[in-house]
Amino acid sequence: MTPDQAIWASLPVPAFIIDPQDRIADVNSAGEGFLNASRKAVLGHPVWDQIAADAPIEEAFERARSNGTPLFVNDVDVGSGQRAPLQCALQIAPLLGQPGSMIMIISPRELAGRMTQSHTVKSAAQSAIGMAEMLAHEIKNPLAGITGAAQLLSMNIAPQDIELTDLIVEESRRIVKLLEQVEQFGNLSLPDFRPVNIHDVLDRARRSALLGFGAHMTIIEDYDPSLPLAFGDPDQLLQVVLNLLRNASEAAGGDGGTIHLRTYFEHSFRLRRSDGSGHSLPLQIEIIDDGPGLPEDISADIFDPFVSGRENGTGLGLALVSKIVSDHDGWISVDSVPGRTVFRLSLRRVPRDYEQEETT
Ligand SMILES: Nc1ncnc2c1ncn2[C@@H]1O[C@H](COP(=O)(O)OP(=O)(O)O)[C@@H](O)[C@H]1O
Ligand SMILES: [Mg+2]
Repeated sequence: MTPDQAIWASLPVPAFIIDPQDRIADVNSAGEGFLNASRKAVLGHPVWDQIAADAPIEEAFERARSNGTPLFVNDVDVGSGQRAPLQCALQIAPLLGQPGSMIMIISPRELAGRMTQSHTVKSAAQSAIGMAEMLAHEIKNPLAGITGAAQLLSMNIAPQDIELTDLIVEESRRIVKLLEQVEQFGNLSLPDFRPVNIHDVLDRARRSALLGFGAHMTIIEDYDPSLPLAFGDPDQLLQVVLNLLRNASEAAGGDGGTIHLRTYFEHSFRLRRSDGSGHSLPLQIEIIDDGPGLPEDISADIFDPFVSGRENGTGLGLALVSKIVSDHDGWISVDSVPGRTVFRLSLRRVPRDYEQEETT
């Protein structure tokens, strides 16, 4: 055994060499274990038939190949057809000296990355939300009582104490607002799917932002006019865009900033599930701001409920976004550095058989 072969055989994590045609050119013994198949049985087979990742990585993989750059993908569920999917990180790099060939190492999830995905709202998060909904419901009534009592009190007390009853009323109002956001989750119904002109949704969101929370922002449209209709619930998608615009406006601070709304079509963008099924998500909507970027300490968790980087934040805005996008079978990702934060929403187009369904 040459030292190279020894290294390859001893690597404790599944590793694959992928040829320029996306076939498995080699696999180490940990990889054989991962696939539960012998090297001989998988050599020459298309890699994406053997390894199913719950993330649209093929496109990023292609880009890494053509740019000759490495690619790291965190938090993907990787399955192999037979076994239940595992949450993994993928490390992919061009193979030196063999143009077009790539090496891919699969390791169980450790580090959180910049690309945060949220296809499944995690079950812990789900039950946290369920609990909070119940509490929200229980707290609202007594809170209304407290507010009412404080308002009554304020009619009969010395002027210097009014400040105190005002405080009670104001703080209660803040709690009610939080509770209402929590309740939004419970009230969220499944999307009422129909063909949606995403540019109409963006326009509505833009106008409403400029009249309210985003009055200090400049919002620039950069639309692909030939974009086909999306398939989704227009009201829920409006909610998604509004939440993203609100966050961008809040991140910008008082001096304002610029938000670009960009749409484009990307034919090759697919969502692959760990069970091997998949569908295409060719409609891309990007909300790009020039603010300070995600706070580093929470950047991996921003789609989780109650994670907020703002004073007075609830951390529910992006959790709701994540829930809606996941109900839409869509995808949302974020890429953020100071000065440029991009939230990218990927959606389905109207299925071919949709009109038939309507008319029959
Ligand atoms: N465009 C953005 N730029 C910078 N930080 C952002 C942006 N969008 C979201 N964030 C960060 O993510 C956190 C979570 O957002 P969200 O779930 O909407 O909760 P909230 O807005 O109530 O804090 C925000 O508090 C903020 O720190
Ligand atoms: Mg928010």
